Amino acid sequence: MDVVDALRGVDAFAALERRIWAASAGGYAASVARLCAHTVPAPAERVVAVDAEPAVAAEAGRMVPEAIVAALPELSFAERAFDVVMGNFVLHHVGRPAVAPAELRRVLRPGGRPGLTAWAAPAPPGQSLLARAFEAAGAVRPADLPSPPAAPAAVTEVEGFRALLADSGFGAVDGRVVRWDHRTSVEAWWGGPAGGVAFLGELLRRRSPEVRVGVRREFERPTGEFMRVEGELALPHAAVLVSARR
Ligand SMILES: C[S@@+](CC[C@H](N)C(=O)[O-])C[C@H]1O[C@@H](n2cnc3c(N)ncnc32)[C@H](O)[C@@H]1O
Repeated sequence: MDVVDALRGVDAFAALERRIWAASAGGYAASVARLCAHTVPAPAERVVAVDAEPAVAAEAGRMVPEAIVAALPELSFAERAFDVVMGNFVLHHVGRPAVAPAELRRVLRPGGRPGLTAWAAPAPPGQSLLARAFEAAGAVRPADLPSPPAAPAAVTEVEGFRALLADSGFGAVDGRVVRWDHRTSVEAWWGGPAGGVAFLGELLRRRSPEVRVGVRREFERPTGEFMRVEGELALPHAAVLVSARR
């Protein structure tokens, strides 16, 4: 692949990301947002929310006074503007993930700290439940759907993610895997893709009603193993969490 093809791939992936998250904004709060919130501490000071998709930034704006549209690896902030930068389950959505930490470093004050997360690989069974249902029902990624142009493998395991930060000039780089059981219900968890949220929502939207029914059936089949109380799920998840110091 030459440079032009690679950049075309980045653009196509970014366009897909914007489309997926524009469609997800409405349903995200009731589904995946509750899962992603597990790794974020309560902020102590002034918070500025950032997202590449205007509809998501608008949703964030309901919760924090400042919500800005900007797409990594370019942020529209002055150098050294922040004490802390959180990138919660974002880097694997960026077409050029290796370039993004340098931009986060630019907007941190000296001594400031980044905190970044991404889903860990291999995924625990609760984390892969929906993806496995799609696969079992034959609803795999169509060939015309862009993949991340740069393999996100560097962020799905601790050493790769730590190296990404160290290579971007950060010091005191630390990393660990955070494991937890996400408590949800069968209906709420299915409501994510059924409501068009995230990549699986996009995948489901593109399928015939028959395939959609098949995915739902395959989703329900193994849910019993995660059920503590009828209808209530405890889904094991794992994320890589890295921190550092500028
Ligand atoms: C899994 S969601 C995480 C959202 C939020 N940080 C949270 O913790 O709930 C991924 C988000 O990354 C955003 N995103 C995708 N590419 C991005 C980019 N290049 N720069 C900034 N945000 C991006 C998407 O619009 C989407 O809202």
